[in-house]
Amino acid sequence: MSENPLRKGIAENRTADPCVVVIFGASGDLTKRKLVPALYNLAVSRFLPSGSAVVGVARREKTDDSFRKEMRTGVDTFSRRRPADETLWADFEKGLSYVRGSFEDPKTYEDLREHLEKLDKERGTAGNRCFYFAIAPSEVEVVLERLRDAKLVKPFDPSGPWTRAVIEKPFGSDLESAIELNKMVGRVFDERQVYRIDHYLGKETVQNLLVFRFANSLFEPLWNRQHVDHVQITVAEEIGVEGRGKFFEQVGITRDVVQNHLLQLLCLTAMEPPISLDADAVRDEKVKVLRSLRPMDQSAVREAVVRGQYSSGHVRAETVPGYLEEPDVKKDSTVETFVGMRVFVDNFRWGGVPFYIRAGKRLPRRVTEVAIQFRRVPHPLFSSTDGGITPNVLTLRIQPDEGMAIRFITKEPGQQTVLRDVSMDFKYGAAFGSNTPEAYERLLLDAMRGDATLFTRRDEVERQWAFMDPVLKTWSAAATPPPSYAAGTWGPEQADDLIARDGRRWRRP
Ligand code: BG6
Repeated sequence: MSENPLRKGIAENRTADPCVVVIFGASGDLTKRKLVPALYNLAVSRFLPSGSAVVGVARREKTDDSFRKEMRTGVDTFSRRRPADETLWADFEKGLSYVRGSFEDPKTYEDLREHLEKLDKERGTAGNRCFYFAIAPSEVEVVLERLRDAKLVKPFDPSGPWTRAVIEKPFGSDLESAIELNKMVGRVFDERQVYRIDHYLGKETVQNLLVFRFANSLFEPLWNRQHVDHVQITVAEEIGVEGRGKFFEQVGITRDVVQNHLLQLLCLTAMEPPISLDADAVRDEKVKVLRSLRPMDQSAVREAVVRGQYSSGHVRAETVPGYLEEPDVKKDSTVETFVGMRVFVDNFRWGGVPFYIRAGKRLPRRVTEVAIQFRRVPHPLFSSTDGGITPNVLTLRIQPDEGMAIRFITKEPGQQTVLRDVSMDFKYGAAFGSNTPEAYERLLLDAMRGDATLFTRRDEVERQWAFMDPVLKTWSAAATPPPSYAAGTWGPEQADDLIARDGRRWRRP
């Protein structure tokens, strides 16, 4: 079996220096659900440099011991390899510790510094620090300033001990706040030390978009306006807000998923081949796509963007409450849980090709996919026997059921010429087994190695917001509730109308 070249290139150099990962906001869900399970799995796969340590920092009262127990429960519940292996865990947990303190209080950082110096001596982490900001954007500024005041941030130096900042999404809440946040980060860290996370980029199938496009000669010649009729990108979830009503009320699906994950998928689908896999080469090409997105004024938003909010309904035969009945959601909330939009990438490759993108909570199925629909054949040679030939579709299934499929037309065996739609399907699970690394494993290791390819650059995140801002502003000016859709359906009927006006239909994956 031929090797995935992207993985091979990187696999040759997957080692990192021992370091301390310091997690601000360690009592939050992300730490036990994603970060510590990812670090544990890196340790199991022997990618975590030996001696590395993890320090949780948060306000809640905890001891090292209770922190370790809590993280163990996290690994037993959420890790892809679960439950934890006793011997491996015993070794891993020695590197886990906790520093309690408020983010405001300079003493927290003095305690942290002392603790880190002790770890350097005991575990050989040599002053290397990865500060992970798993906190709300409103708390980032104070942590940045206190870190700087406590002299915990070393200047960028490729040959010396390193300090890096990994910053979780949402990165700001609109263009203005993102620019502000970037400035704040820039006052303390050099851009080469900053790793803005979009966990979608760590998914194997998302990385494979680049390999699929640029390591095969078959598809790239067709990947343009001459051959592609339109593109559909879907990020559909069955789940609702899962107890995160308070958070979701502030973000809505546009800020939570569209501004970041969905636009990243669009960039990887539409970008030109980078000159190398170097972080800046890849990100330069993505930024070009973002710069080519046709800007929308208010009337374009009204014409080409649809939002929705789920009401109660049935998802997989289970009755679920509507968004307004979720805990911590205002009874008259106008926050959107669905967005569908048509966007154009105004450049030579894509001029005139619509990209229909949608994301929603409480849709019938969890599915993320990119579907490229090709143009119809130019001459209907077979139409009299069939009544129409459906166009070819190439589907890249990001999750679940990771894989890709090509739909094409064949002749059904028999005396008559009867045409049939068939599909050629590739499944990751069948080819490579199903226990692939989680996105956070990949991203944490990349941050420790100093590879920023799969992280969002400063100008990139600002471009993403610049594109979404008019949409958000139009809605907030309107102050009308979004159209509703029953949970378990594919969004409001206005979303169907949006694409039907162009003579097309959403896919029903
Ligand atoms: C997160 C969003 O970034 O992505 C969540 O905050 C969403 O609302 C999640 O559910 C989806 O990610 P995944 O990896 O589960 O598809």
